[in-house]
Amino acid sequence: MQKQNVQEDCRKVYRKVYRKKRQALSYQEQSIAAHDLLSVCIASTTLSQVKTVACYIANDGEINPIAIIDYCWQQGKSVLLPVLHPFSKGHLLFVEYHPHSPTRKNCYGIEEPIVTSSNLSTLANIELILTPLVAFDASGNRLGMGGGYYDRTIAPIRRDSLPTKLIGLAHTCQQTDMLLTDSWDIPLDGIATPEQFFSVS
Ligand SMILES: Nc1ncnc2c1ncn2[C@@H]1O[C@H](COP(=O)(O)OP(=O)(O)OP(=O)(O)O)[C@@H](O)[C@H]1O
Ligand SMILES: [Mg+2]
Repeated sequence: MQKQNVQEDCRKVYRKVYRKKRQALSYQEQSIAAHDLLSVCIASTTLSQVKTVACYIANDGEINPIAIIDYCWQQGKSVLLPVLHPFSKGHLLFVEYHPHSPTRKNCYGIEEPIVTSSNLSTLANIELILTPLVAFDASGNRLGMGGGYYDRTIAPIRRDSLPTKLIGLAHTCQQTDMLLTDSWDIPLDGIATPEQFFSVS
């Protein structure tokens, strides 16, 4: 129990430190990073092999994947965004996102598409999930914002051996030497930063 508390305290410190790093990036640094990130993703062939990609809208200094979203639309790929599950607390739904999709802000102030009876996707239909993160290491360990939303939602990928690939998107300054993880943390298959692609599996 004590070890668990120490680990949780450690995560809180890491979250504080690494959120501050990304929040400190200037508008210009963010723009360059977003542009370079797309080049790294294209060069790594992460995007070329998939037709359905779940992404996110940047928040809190996260690297902005808008250029990736635009590129996917241009290439005729299907883009999905996460939406807070209205009934299942702590879970996400993935919803289709088009250039003119109506959106609204959720309780965290993050834009999300409006859920309709026809725009929901199942996890099994998503070939690639690009996740935001607070910190990562080169082994694919991921530290998120602490809600456990991604861990809970993507747990079936590992449990049911779904082919969905998980790639984290991050600023270079979000890399750590080694992250401590817990049993529920779902590791990534790779991480893309504006400088390089880390392939894990
Ligand atoms: N599959 C799961 N089932 C039940 N609880 C979970 C699961 N995954 C994570 N949790 C709970 O969520 C809480 C937050 O988890 P964690 O600190 O790993 O969040 P995170 O990875 O930073 O956040 P996120 O997944 O939203 O990016 C933990 O206290 C954990 O108990
Ligand atoms: Mg986690």
